Amino acid sequence: MTSNSKDIRVHIGAGGIYLKGYENLDVPIDEFYFAKSRPDIVRENITTIENYYKDPYYNNYYERFKLKLTGVKKLPKPKGEPSKNLKRRKMVIDQIAYANNLPYKPNSVSEILAVQVFEHFGPSEAKQVLKHWWSLLRVGGKLIIDVPDVIETAHLLVLAETEEEKGWAEKLIHGTRNNEFAYHKAGYWPKKLERMLQEAGFTSIKVNNQINHQYPAFSMEAIKK
Ligand SMILES: C[S@@+](CC[C@H](N)C(=O)[O-])C[C@H]1O[C@@H](n2cnc3c(N)ncnc32)[C@H](O)[C@@H]1O
Repeated sequence: MTSNSKDIRVHIGAGGIYLKGYENLDVPIDEFYFAKSRPDIVRENITTIENYYKDPYYNNYYERFKLKLTGVKKLPKPKGEPSKNLKRRKMVIDQIAYANNLPYKPNSVSEILAVQVFEHFGPSEAKQVLKHWWSLLRVGGKLIIDVPDVIETAHLLVLAETEEEKGWAEKLIHGTRNNEFAYHKAGYWPKKLERMLQEAGFTSIKVNNQINHQYPAFSMEAIKK
């Protein structure tokens, strides 16, 4: 289920989220499937950017740990009833692709979306990746980057009381470390990401909190002019 060649929209680091109208890409981890051969998993994972984490309470650690959130940005309450048996979604993608070497021609892509992916690059790689993405986007093309908010997460770590709460907050900072691609190598807050996007040549940069997370995170969009 890919978009037509005139309007290429790319979803990088798709993981267990299969977005309608996008090319869903990821790196080859231990268990992954191609959309063409597993329409059953596509049906389970398919969603839209407006309803990115479609399960109510997906990742709702706030609810789970009843953390005292004084001083931490309040998150919107998830819609729907909490799901008791959330299982990890299988990864189903259209093709394998590494963020720093995407298989598209320069000036050909309308949109690049990276949700909870950019923090997986170290500082110099992150700069190179932004240059690469800028070169692939057509003029007027949009980049959306969604990352954990490291400052808000640090607040959570300070507020955490039990060992379990502390362990969760620490994992939000460093990543799950379940595989070699699951390490956080940089932390972001809105001003820092905005500065990097400006330096990479993007304009019309603004916060776009379209994705409903259950932990501290933010999204920014930027345009190639
Ligand atoms: C935290 S998961 C986010 C998955 C999904 N976007 C979500 O929000 O549920 C990070 C994703 O980035 C992918 N990733 C890590 N390093 C990458 C790289 N160098 N190129 C492309 N994808 C990468 C991982 O395989 C993983 O699927």
